[in-house]
Amino acid sequence: MSAPFFLLFFSLLSALHPSSQQQSCTADTFSQNRVFTLCNSLPELSASLHWTYHPVSSTVDVAFRAPQSADGWVAWALNPTGSGMIGAQAIFAFLDSTGAMTAISYPLTNTSPTVRNTSLSYKVYSMASDLSNGLMTIYATIDLPNNNTKVNHVWQASNLFTNGFPNGHRTSGPNVLSKAALDLLSGQFTATGDSTLHLKNRHGILNVVSWGILMPIGVIISRYLRVFKSADPAWFYLHAACQSSAYIIGVAGWGVGLKLGSDSKGITYHPHRNIGIALFCLATLQVFALLLRPNKNNKYRVYWNVYHHATGYSVIILSVVNIFKGFDILQPDSKWKHAYIAIISILGGIAAILEVITWVIVVRRKKSENSADKFQHSANGGNGYGGRQYQEA
Ligand SMILES: *[C@@H]1O[C@H](CO)[C@@H](O)[C@H](O)[C@H]1NC(C)=O
Ligand SMILES: *[C@@H]1O[C@H](CO)[C@@H](O)[C@H](O)[C@H]1NC(C)=O
Repeated sequence: MSAPFFLLFFSLLSALHPSSQQQSCTADTFSQNRVFTLCNSLPELSASLHWTYHPVSSTVDVAFRAPQSADGWVAWALNPTGSGMIGAQAIFAFLDSTGAMTAISYPLTNTSPTVRNTSLSYKVYSMASDLSNGLMTIYATIDLPNNNTKVNHVWQASNLFTNGFPNGHRTSGPNVLSKAALDLLSGQFTATGDSTLHLKNRHGILNVVSWGILMPIGVIISRYLRVFKSADPAWFYLHAACQSSAYIIGVAGWGVGLKLGSDSKGITYHPHRNIGIALFCLATLQVFALLLRPNKNNKYRVYWNVYHHATGYSVIILSVVNIFKGFDILQPDSKWKHAYIAIISILGGIAAILEVITWVIVVRRKKSENSADKFQHSANGGNGYGGRQYQEA
């Protein structure tokens, strides 16, 4: 049971690992048979940069490409004076009012610029752009500032416009992490976006897998497997194994969350943090509950059951709520949120179907017990297996 989930867990982990996140840029082709000597798959927005450096003239031919639709824009910039958006000498590409692709340049001097075709601090020899197969590409030949091949660049993709000109983008997630230092000679790059991003991704994956997927599966196992006589006591061991691995992974993810919290001075996501702490306490209680579990025939067992179930269901509900709060904070690519919604819906669907099956089995079993009782005059004291067992559990 747990093997496929560990597989899922590690494939998720590797999928979010920075190096595997990037598609290779080497197979990209360009209109008008343009070719470039080097390329980088950029760490954000699925973008790539291709370039040819001409040392003799100290110029660079670049092609910047990112996924974009006809109602959006892309932008790429060198920043000769800093590392972020302010000071960046940007080239924008978008469809103009006539529906033709256009490229304009604009030096970004503040965070709410009025983008208009304006010359940059370095010479731009040519600008062009195209849109094909959902990819928008900017082509330009520029003077390399100070002939310095170690550059800082930033890039962007958005669909916000004002009066037909690019204006604004999301101010969180990939859209603010899209910057890097790049060596034009070697192609080596260092993302300068957010050093904690990978820690945040790890926190997200560990917690989604443990609290968000394994724990609900553990509940499904205990609630629906036990009704089958042949699955007793296997369901119990499966349930305990599933929830203990979920707890161990979950506490690891929780620890990463605490580290992130202590690292981000001045920024606290109070609800996310508080729910996280409550979850840790409730889940730890469940571990102790397992150890303090009274015997099946103990008269207090029924109270223990109520307590164990109430805590368990609270953990599941709070986990799902907190995972969505986490998605809102981290704002990963929407496919991750959609994937989680799909997984949790499938689990919900499976639970609904099993709930129906369980009730059918229980009701049938009760019926046959009742008719057996009539014949046997309650020889066994009516202490049947099915219904009682199910409701106790
Ligand atoms: C630019 O720098 C390279 C070495 O990095 C040098 O070979 C080249 O001559 C320089 N070009 C100009 C125009 O100064
Ligand atoms: C932008 O300005 C440059 C010169 O500054 C000009 O060559 C180019 O045609 C202009 N582009 C647009 C789309 O207006």
